[in-house]
Amino acid sequence: MISFRNVDVKFETDKGVVHAVRNVSFTIEKESVFGVIGASGAGKSTLLRTINGLEKLASGEVAVDGNIVNRLSSRQLREHRERIGMIFQHFNLIASRTVAQNIAYPLKIAEKGRAFIETRVDELLKLVDLEDKKHAYPAKLSGGQKQRVGIARALANHTKILLCDEPTSALDSETTRVILQLLRQLSQELGITIVIITHELDVVSAICDKVAVMSEGRLVETGSIYDVFTSPREEYTKKLLDTRYDFSIPEEILEKIRRVNTEQGRYWKIVRLDYIGEGANEPVISRASKRFDTEIDVIHGKIEYIQGKPYGRMYVSVCGERTETEKTLACLAGQVRSIETLYEAS
Ligand SMILES: Nc1ncnc2c1ncn2[C@@H]1O[C@H](COP(=O)(O)OP(=O)(O)OP(=O)(O)O)[C@@H](O)[C@H]1O
Ligand SMILES: [Mg+2]
Repeated sequence: MISFRNVDVKFETDKGVVHAVRNVSFTIEKESVFGVIGASGAGKSTLLRTINGLEKLASGEVAVDGNIVNRLSSRQLREHRERIGMIFQHFNLIASRTVAQNIAYPLKIAEKGRAFIETRVDELLKLVDLEDKKHAYPAKLSGGQKQRVGIARALANHTKILLCDEPTSALDSETTRVILQLLRQLSQELGITIVIITHELDVVSAICDKVAVMSEGRLVETGSIYDVFTSPREEYTKKLLDTRYDFSIPEEILEKIRRVNTEQGRYWKIVRLDYIGEGANEPVISRASKRFDTEIDVIHGKIEYIQGKPYGRMYVSVCGERTETEKTLACLAGQVRSIETLYEAS
């Protein structure tokens, strides 16, 4: 388990003190995949680097399996770092060395014997499915293959914690999917704790169990992916997550709804419905439209699965006689997590 207790990190710069991490406390369970999200400059990388002692604390405590990182002697810190791997957005491979030599690098640092290194490198190549690239140089590899080398190198010393700083930000979406699947699989099969920093919310929802949201050095909130993504408690998180669903109703559609309903003397509203859990599968719309004398049209909708559970957002227009429209909306409101009116007849 990794735990942060009242962690503060400050940097002295020419322009004064930068308070990069402010009083952060939370824990990351063993063998879980944990995401850290937040805007640029929020302090994510700095926080990550406190786990392997690359960043000094101004105050507070970071503990890994009960060992307080900021109190380790330099020898203990060296051993501690050996058990923690790290991967990066730009892979950070050594260009003048082959795939095998890159992977062998941390084993050499740890002064392992030649035979041991050879066997271990082959094992690692197999683990990340790169056996055929053993003698290739990084320049000859695709982004996804480079990140596989990065992962193999990070895990070389039978690492139990893998820190990932924007591991897929330089990869296309299909390669991202494959790399995330590999990370998830490694976490499960090898019992590795993975901490991933990313600005890609889809990365977090695809593989993380839990997430921490950071802003301006502070922890905004933390919880299971499903809870935070479907029911964020903080305004900051809501805004951050809304960017995933970016959708504005096209002006032509809005104009048409206004015009047609005004001509026919009908009342109308356009609402946004958020569904969670089992409710997302239920035909709420068709049921409501059968019960009331109103017309319900779906303008836009998206359902996704987070940790295997459905979460959906839908934009619908409801029109008809005023009281029937209000009754329809009340009925919908009783069946979804939230309903918000975006436009209505003036
Ligand atoms: N070595 C350093 N010296 C001075 N200031 C630093 C140093 N490292 C980070 N900072 C500052 O600390 C704050 C947090 O930086 P950090 O890199 O942790 O943010 P981040 O959330 O990882 O951002 P990004 O998403 O852009 O990578 C920023 O204001 C940054 O400028
Ligand atoms: Mg960063």
